[in-house]
Amino acid sequence: MVDQADNLRRAVEEGPRARILAVTSGKGGVGKTCVSVNLGIALVAQGARTILLDADLGLANVEVLLGLNSLYDLQHVIEGRKSMDDILIDGPGGLRVIPGSSGMAHVADIGPVGRQRVQDGLSDLQCRADVIIIDTMAGIGQNAVAFCASADEVLFVTTPEPSSIVNVYATIKTIHQMGSRAKFYLLINSVLSEEQARAVNAKLSRAIREYLGREVHYLGYVSRDPHVSRAVMQSRPFTLQFPNASATRNIEDIAARLLNQQVDGRGGIQGFFRRVAQNLGLAHTG
Ligand SMILES: Nc1ncnc2c1ncn2[C@@H]1O[C@H](COP(=O)(O)OP(=O)(O)OP(=O)(O)O)[C@@H](O)[C@H]1O
Ligand SMILES: [Mg+2]
Repeated sequence: MVDQADNLRRAVEEGPRARILAVTSGKGGVGKTCVSVNLGIALVAQGARTILLDADLGLANVEVLLGLNSLYDLQHVIEGRKSMDDILIDGPGGLRVIPGSSGMAHVADIGPVGRQRVQDGLSDLQCRADVIIIDTMAGIGQNAVAFCASADEVLFVTTPEPSSIVNVYATIKTIHQMGSRAKFYLLINSVLSEEQARAVNAKLSRAIREYLGREVHYLGYVSRDPHVSRAVMQSRPFTLQFPNASATRNIEDIAARLLNQQVDGRGGIQGFFRRVAQNLGLAHTG
């Protein structure tokens, strides 16, 4: 009883907790950033206040996809020169974006003061957000894996190509073996048909269940659709640029399914950072 009362008090004191959803893949270039951006916009359209944290420092990052050009990024927060609100960008469709920085490529090197600044900034923001999406880099890099293993929910993106499937399985295995208690989701991108997506999901889900003893929830698929790359060329999200495209309808369905998912024991930003520190073998700052 004491525990329950304690938990309740803490929940009230800390305020509402946003869902922390990391998006990752095994291979690069399978559509994580396109999915993160457009899923974020679809979530906003369905009433969920959404913030996208760009932790993918590749070339086609969130800002490039959205045609944004930020003056400041997380490095300014890490160095204490700007607040999280200063660097937050109002992106298209009501999606708010936190520009990443190359400093985030080595979270383990940031140091406790910088990490605390990022944590405090995100903790303030999470009271004004329902979902925080973290667009990570592909593969089993230490950072991406630590972010994913620390999130409450992880969305794994794969295409139907065998190399993408094999790599996403390896990434899921790594994150599972780190002791992640996140809810795992699967999204099959760039598919030729619904049947193809279902077949990939069946194969992957079975392997994950049999070899890892773990469930992964199928959130759906996104068709291979020329509107996606056309929108990328125009630095616009396809959900806004091409509202009737099949990829847009697919993403809207996925957003609705995601909002229907129940996630127990959410740790919010505090829990996320505590686990990131554990996973990277760092002392937790607070
Ligand atoms: N459903 C789709 N249909 C057609 N083309 C797509 C689709 N999804 C992604 N693409 C194409 O794939 C390209 C790569 O996508 P994106 O940048 O989102 O991948 P990524 O996984 O984030 O890559 P990286 O690993 O480099 O971060 C896009 O520029 C787009 O042209
Ligand atoms: Mg990307």
